[in-house]
Amino acid sequence: MGADLLKAFPVETRRLLWLIGLVFITVILFQFIEFPKGSALWSLFSRGEVPVPKDLSLVGENSTSLSSNLSSPSVTDTSIISEDRNNSLVGLDEGRNGSLTLEEDPEPGNITELNSSSIDTRKEEIALPPEDNGNLSLAPIEPSVAPLSLPHNVPPNLSMELSTPPPLLPPPLVHVSEKKPKSKIYEKDVLTLSDMSEELIQNYLSPPTMVPRWSSKVDKDLVLAKQLIENAPPLNDGLYAPLYRNASMFKRSYELMEQMLKVYIYKEGDRRIFHRPPLEGIYASEGWFMKQMESNQHYVTKRPREAHLFYLPFSSRQLEEALYVPNSHSHKNLIQHLRDYVSMISTKYPYWNRTEGADHFFVACHDWAPSETKRIMANCIRALCNADVKEGFKFGKDVSLPETYVRKARNPLRDIGGKPPSKRKTLAFYAGNMHGYLRPLLLQSWGNNIDPGMKIFGSMPRSKDNRNYINYMKTSKYCICPRGYEVNSPRVVEAIFYECVPVIISDNFVPPFFETLNWESFAVFVAEKDIPNLKNILLSIPEKTFFRMHMRVKKVQQHFLWHPKPLKYDLFHMILHSIWYNRVFQFRPK
Ligand SMILES: *[C@@H]1O[C@H](CO)[C@@H](O)[C@H](O)[C@H]1NC(C)=O
Ligand SMILES: *[C@@H]1O[C@H](CO)[C@@H](O)[C@H](O)[C@H]1NC(C)=O
Ligand SMILES: *[C@@H]1O[C@H](CO)[C@@H](O)[C@H](O)[C@H]1NC(C)=O
Ligand SMILES: *[C@@H]1O[C@H](CO)[C@@H](O)[C@H](O)[C@H]1NC(C)=O
Ligand SMILES: *[C@@H]1O[C@H](CO)[C@@H](O)[C@H](O)[C@H]1NC(C)=O
Ligand SMILES: *[C@@H]1O[C@H](CO)[C@@H](O)[C@H](O)[C@H]1NC(C)=O
Ligand SMILES: *[C@@H]1O[C@H](CO)[C@@H](O)[C@H](O)[C@H]1NC(C)=O
Ligand SMILES: *[C@@H]1O[C@H](CO)[C@@H](O)[C@H](O)[C@H]1NC(C)=O
Ligand SMILES: *[C@@H]1O[C@H](CO)[C@@H](O)[C@H](O)[C@H]1NC(C)=O
Ligand SMILES: *[C@@H]1O[C@H](CO)[C@@H](O)[C@H](O)[C@H]1NC(C)=O
Repeated sequence: MGADLLKAFPVETRRLLWLIGLVFITVILFQFIEFPKGSALWSLFSRGEVPVPKDLSLVGENSTSLSSNLSSPSVTDTSIISEDRNNSLVGLDEGRNGSLTLEEDPEPGNITELNSSSIDTRKEEIALPPEDNGNLSLAPIEPSVAPLSLPHNVPPNLSMELSTPPPLLPPPLVHVSEKKPKSKIYEKDVLTLSDMSEELIQNYLSPPTMVPRWSSKVDKDLVLAKQLIENAPPLNDGLYAPLYRNASMFKRSYELMEQMLKVYIYKEGDRRIFHRPPLEGIYASEGWFMKQMESNQHYVTKRPREAHLFYLPFSSRQLEEALYVPNSHSHKNLIQHLRDYVSMISTKYPYWNRTEGADHFFVACHDWAPSETKRIMANCIRALCNADVKEGFKFGKDVSLPETYVRKARNPLRDIGGKPPSKRKTLAFYAGNMHGYLRPLLLQSWGNNIDPGMKIFGSMPRSKDNRNYINYMKTSKYCICPRGYEVNSPRVVEAIFYECVPVIISDNFVPPFFETLNWESFAVFVAEKDIPNLKNILLSIPEKTFFRMHMRVKKVQQHFLWHPKPLKYDLFHMILHSIWYNRVFQFRPK
């Protein structure tokens, strides 16, 4: 602990320096805008290597006019507790009961099947709060969940609506408690999507990464790839441009990945945690990626010297399963396990030390992954489901990993698709448990069938194969994806899967593949504070715009699908691509 504290200082200092640098650059950029080419200062930066920002700043250019409005200023929190599952702690049960792992029965019986919609709905039926009760109290709503939930960092005071449960909530995890306590539900500082884009651009411009200690032949590939991507030819066919920040750069980068990228996978690791992919449930993305990466013939190399990237093949889900001590409210030992692992590979091989981990990556969907890895794997490219700006997500380095709820590993595409847009009669749909502070607010505003267009429920009544839930997704125009305990939710991908336009209500959530996709062209972002206005916001979207977004959801769908054998542009390749892309743009040669 003492050592940790000591370490914290240089980190903070560096962060401060970095901030000052950012401000400086911003000032310079402004000067440049005001005095084009005249500024002597600007010339410091114009080494002909900066076309990136221009292209990237086209983000959301073709977004629906609305969404830019919608995603505007907002208020939020981020920090509170953990996400969408029986909760993190209870997430344990999920594996045991819910057949998350390969070894387990793929037909888990009633639990996963009946209450599938997402882990939420597996919980007990929830009584909807009385509509007109201004002070929604959580305690009666989540009786069985709260005690089990293991919050990341429960603010000392959840205030207002949330003030009831604290006695039930366990103390925060030890290492998270270093954070400043929060006294409000909403945070003041919410990054809008355009703020996020700015930060991404800045970080590509001057990446906060270290230069390798010694050069390697693969470094040249990265430099070359960057040049080629920046000079990508115009798109001639194939991809549908409005879905991307810059479709030609994406296409070029993807092709270069196919031609160049080599990945080395470390063979070491405790078999309970490493090389053991969970293929079902809400953490399935880390498992599917691991399985498909490890069995890949094209990208994987046995010769680490020719690798551009090094994969640390652990499952954050299995880490919890293997090492978390129930009711300990501490994941110190989980972190220690990862620390020992890093120490082992960095002693046994020279590769980690060469870049201090900057060319190493992992893919982790568990709620705890950001906090478990933020120190020991700080330089790694972290693909995280819990892609929360407030949990230390670094734009241009970290990757937002889609959370996919795989119900049947044998058939991940089951039930895909939905009604055509004209047959979607329900304006908006949500069903799920009352995780976190936001969903009760959503229900309070729109639950109880208060409005015939707004189908906003707690958990849905039981139905075979979760038919009710799926049917709503297939027949609604907009599917509401509010944050749970954490910012991420499997609903975002579910909505795309069933061709429903996602409405993301989760301040400071970085949407998946943010470095590549132009999210505002096919999804609606609503600030948490705007929930009371949700219906008006949705109604104000012209029908034409809705049709266009629906069409785009169908087009972007290919990027969010698991296939038993990976296909071009599918989810496996998109994850690998974002990792590759960030490595290329982060890299600075020696
Ligand atoms: C962006 O939108 C404008 C106006 O809606 C349209 O003219 C243009 O073709 C769009 N660009 C792309 C790349 O879709
Ligand atoms: C935001 O919405 C308001 C009213 O709905 C509209 O007047 C304004 O032009 C919009 N702003 C943007 C940037 O779309
Ligand atoms: C979820 O929580 C409920 C109530 O605490 C518990 O009975 C159930 O076993 C849990 N399910 C999972 C998957 O964790
Ligand atoms: C689910 O897990 C819980 C806790 O591990 C256990 O008590 C319960 O019996 C399990 N239920 C099933 C159906 O396996
Ligand atoms: C569902 O699970 C419960 C308890 O785990 C068990 O008693 C019941 O028989 C199961 N029902 C079905 C249809 O599998
Ligand atoms: C909460 O609601 C209850 C019942 O509706 C009411 O008696 C109580 O005064 C309310 N408390 C606050 C703080 O509004
Ligand atoms: C917690 O909330 C209570 C009542 O709302 C208030 O009196 C107290 O000062 C708060 N504590 C903190 C640490 O914010
Ligand atoms: C995309 O990037 C390419 C290469 O940097 C650039 O030439 C092009 O103008 C960009 N296109 C758009 C729509 O920003
Ligand atoms: C990498 O650095 C660590 C700490 O500086 C050192 O202990 C380790 O021996 C180095 N690894 C190699 C292979 O030299
Ligand atoms: C989920 O399953 C549990 C246990 O099988 C059951 O008690 C609960 O009613 C189910 N909830 C839904 C929404 O089906």
